[in-house]
Amino acid sequence: MYPLIRKALFSLEAETAHELTIKLLGAVGRSPAKCLVEKMLAVAGTPKQCMGITFKNPIGLAAGADKNAEAVDGFGALGFGFIEVGTVTPLPQPGNPKPRQFRLISAEGIINRNGFNNDGVDKVIENIKKSRYDGTLGINIGKNTFTPVEKGKEDYLVCLEKVYPYADYITVNISSPNSPGLRQLQYGELLEDLLAGIKAKQRVLAEQQQKYVPIALKIAPDLTEAELVAIADSLRRHQFDGVIATNTTLSRDNVTGLTNAEQQGGLSGKPLQDLSTKIIARLYQELKGEIPIIGSGGIDSVANAEQKMAAGAELLQLYSGLIYHGPKLVQELVRHIR
Ligand SMILES: Cc1cc2nc3c(=O)[nH]c(=O)nc-3n(C[C@H](O)[C@H](O)[C@H](O)COP(=O)(O)O)c2cc1C
Repeated sequence: MYPLIRKALFSLEAETAHELTIKLLGAVGRSPAKCLVEKMLAVAGTPKQCMGITFKNPIGLAAGADKNAEAVDGFGALGFGFIEVGTVTPLPQPGNPKPRQFRLISAEGIINRNGFNNDGVDKVIENIKKSRYDGTLGINIGKNTFTPVEKGKEDYLVCLEKVYPYADYITVNISSPNSPGLRQLQYGELLEDLLAGIKAKQRVLAEQQQKYVPIALKIAPDLTEAELVAIADSLRRHQFDGVIATNTTLSRDNVTGLTNAEQQGGLSGKPLQDLSTKIIARLYQELKGEIPIIGSGGIDSVANAEQKMAAGAELLQLYSGLIYHGPKLVQELVRHIR
């Protein structure tokens, strides 16, 4: 059935197809059809302990698919073990001008330069409150585009405080290539200051709310060896709870000459697969299992999901694979990955 749906969706411009999917999944999630879909797609997965949370299964929906938490119930019905909403910023913002999402069909890739378009943290929390989803929910936070990078920490702290009561885990996204300067937060003093500030705030919130919410850092695949080692060192020193590897890439090595390959933005999907697996493996060498790795980047089959697990990931997330292969991919992964 998905090949037909895909054909219809691919006849539309990429972001229009995405918006329609969110509307449909949102409607399914609010209707009695949700239980039917859930039953149809249900497969027994293997629960997994990570970051102090028991995940129903290790397969999650990556950030960016449901930025505003409008279709959490619908995505939940597809069988994911966890769902990450966002990236959400303190204030609503429109993102970059459209068009800003492009398919590279023959390579099964996507380039996006959305630029954190989202309805703002307050609206996203409202949506989460309305949802009936009772699985594991991650909330991915970022900074507003107009906030200078040196003041970025303040935006993360605002979001952290607001989402803390509603999240099972929180992701600090400093690796989107589409928010000017954001990736600078991955280095040196800015990184140190951000991680220290986040951990200090987490301690205060955990004490106040008598609830410890783990926090993961999401990193880019375009880091040099030295930068990756430095990040791993900072994560350990600040006792971060997890790391998501990776976000989209600026590299076009695997797609040169293809239609849309020259579009600006972050590339995801199959062309990112090996690069993100390499980053996971290198990160694991540094972290030695002390900090769990959540693997993301081009997962489109059980075989390459297994490669990411073998490289050191404890949980996995996907987005582009869902667009190219549909919910059946989620079922296959849930059935086989443990
Ligand atoms: C259209 C699109 C929008 C995305 N938006 C976000 C985002 O807002 N925040 C984020 O952390 N990652 C975002 N991502 C990155 C994904 O979460 C994921 O890390 C990346 O796409 C690699 O996984 P995939 O190859 O399975 O898509 C986005 C990806 C795509 C394709």
